[in-house]
Amino acid sequence: MFYDALNKQCPLEIDPFKALVGPRPIGWISTVSASGVANLAPYSFFNAVADEPPLVMFSSGGHKDTLLNIAETGEFVCNLATHDLKDAMNVTSGMVDRSVDEFELAGLEKAAGKMVSVPRVALSPVALECRHTANIPLKDVEGAASKYEMVIGQVVGVYIDDGLIIDGRVDTCSMQQLARHGYMDYSSVSELFRIERPS
Ligand SMILES: Cc1cc2nc3c(=O)[nH]c(=O)nc-3n(C[C@H](O)[C@H](O)[C@H](O)COP(=O)(O)O)c2cc1C
Repeated sequence: MFYDALNKQCPLEIDPFKALVGPRPIGWISTVSASGVANLAPYSFFNAVADEPPLVMFSSGGHKDTLLNIAETGEFVCNLATHDLKDAMNVTSGMVDRSVDEFELAGLEKAAGKMVSVPRVALSPVALECRHTANIPLKDVEGAASKYEMVIGQVVGVYIDDGLIIDGRVDTCSMQQLARHGYMDYSSVSELFRIERPS
């Protein structure tokens, strides 16, 4: 099949776009408001976009609590969502009042950030502590504003569970990194293979 996406001609009942670009990593973003309330939410429009300096981005459909907190403090942490933490991750995607601490809501312990004043998820084996660098409002081909806004941050501190480091490398297979497909589907990595680049 083929469809004209510009004019929203998709004949399928559910738009498959998010199922076609995947699996996507999940940035499980923790933030704190200026008044000190911790917040946690998953964002699958998330990725690393550079490594010198290390930069990550996520994209928010509206001015959600995460964005409001980053605007107030300039800091956030990307926690790795794993297979074991999938239910807690899902709880933190609920729309709750800004006064609710979503770590507490999901029964998650906090660990203090080292380079930022934002806590990380203690059970998450990897956390990227970030300082905000830019917000990019997104627009369509005619220049009309999208409801999405991209947030970019520089990774200033990296937490890795020591148990994941084997022979100087991170054992990314045993991280059980959770990824988002379309619809309500997820996967976690259970097998890796290696390909050497041509010289
Ligand atoms: C796996 C998953 C991925 C999500 N990805 C995004 C995303 O990329 N952008 C977005 O705006 N919302 C996304 N959401 C929805 C937000 O997590 C949800 O709106 C949440 O309440 C936002 O929380 P906040 O207001 O505390 O920032 C996602 C939800 C789930 C379960």
